[in-house]
Amino acid sequence: MEGARETSGFVKRGAPMTKLVNELASVQANEPLGPGLYLMALKAPQIARGIEAGQFVHMRIPHMDDHILRRPFSVYGRSAEEGIVEILYQTVGYGTDQMTRIGALESVEMIGPVGRPWRPPAAASRALLVAGGVGSAPLFLLAEKLIAEKREVDVVLGAQTAEALVSRERYEALLQAPPRCSTDDGSFGFEGFCTPLVEQALAEAEGEGRPYDYLAVCGPEPLMRLVANMAAEHGVLCEVSLERRMACGVGACLSCVVNTTGGLKRSCVDGPVFLAEEVIW
Ligand SMILES: Cc1cc2nc3c(=O)[nH]c(=O)nc-3n(C[C@H](O)[C@H](O)[C@H](O)COP(=O)(O)OP(=O)(O)OC[C@H]3O[C@@H](n4cnc5c(N)ncnc54)[C@H](O)[C@@H]3O)c2cc1C
Ligand code: FES
Repeated sequence: MEGARETSGFVKRGAPMTKLVNELASVQANEPLGPGLYLMALKAPQIARGIEAGQFVHMRIPHMDDHILRRPFSVYGRSAEEGIVEILYQTVGYGTDQMTRIGALESVEMIGPVGRPWRPPAAASRALLVAGGVGSAPLFLLAEKLIAEKREVDVVLGAQTAEALVSRERYEALLQAPPRCSTDDGSFGFEGFCTPLVEQALAEAEGEGRPYDYLAVCGPEPLMRLVANMAAEHGVLCEVSLERRMACGVGACLSCVVNTTGGLKRSCVDGPVFLAEEVIW
């Protein structure tokens, strides 16, 4: 493994690729999009300039003095020119509930860009991106990048209900074609989990004689494990973006370790994106 140094089963891979900054961002908007789902836009010019698809910000949520830990969020959208980053978040607990009360022009301190971005091989010409729930957030910048590079991109989105498919229109506008969608309750698209749509996409691409040569997946861990297995069966290189609870977010505390074929790795700086084949699930 390049640049790796091993100490007691824990593998260090050197410093993150992009320069970390601690930026005081100004909230531009914080609006509900769907059930428990919100879109926050923040002016953070340094992070907006430096962020790569798949990296995240570690946010200190205001008015949470009794909870000192920051919370990690993928960057869903960004405009480097306007210095804006967008976060698509779901309320699951105290911090994300507090986030819904952040008003426009409030200041939020964020460390970023953090982590290892998606790394589609330069030779990959056809990519399948698979998202469950808010897993659609870290995949959108990747879709933008691949399309800008004139590579073919197909997308599978799964959510619980039609109202929770909040990124569908944004993906559809980018792809200029509807993504394959599933909902658990059948209120939009295929009824059930999105895995049959993934299998269908892989089989169709093979049938067309243009199989996928890259697959990226983010969502609940059981979904990522299943999709990683499908990719392996079809011989497609697969990357996964793992979610671990993170304390420091800068590689110091080891609260976020992941067991891999190369030893224990820190999800915050060695991930969150990992090659699926190296993850010991
Ligand atoms: C690299 C990374 C990127 C992320 N990107 C996004 C994103 O774009 N949008 C988004 O909505 N969420 C994202 N998350 C998850 C988000 O960080 C957590 O939902 C958030 O920290 C929860 O904070 P809380 O205070 O509301 O929850 P807490 O009150 O701390 O916990 C409430 C519940 O949520 C669970 N939980 C908390 N943190 C996590 C976590 N990291 N993974 C799984 N379960 C957790 C707890 O186990 C608990 O059951 C990301 C996580 C990581 C590691
Ligand atoms: S969160 Fe501290 S090492 Fe990853």
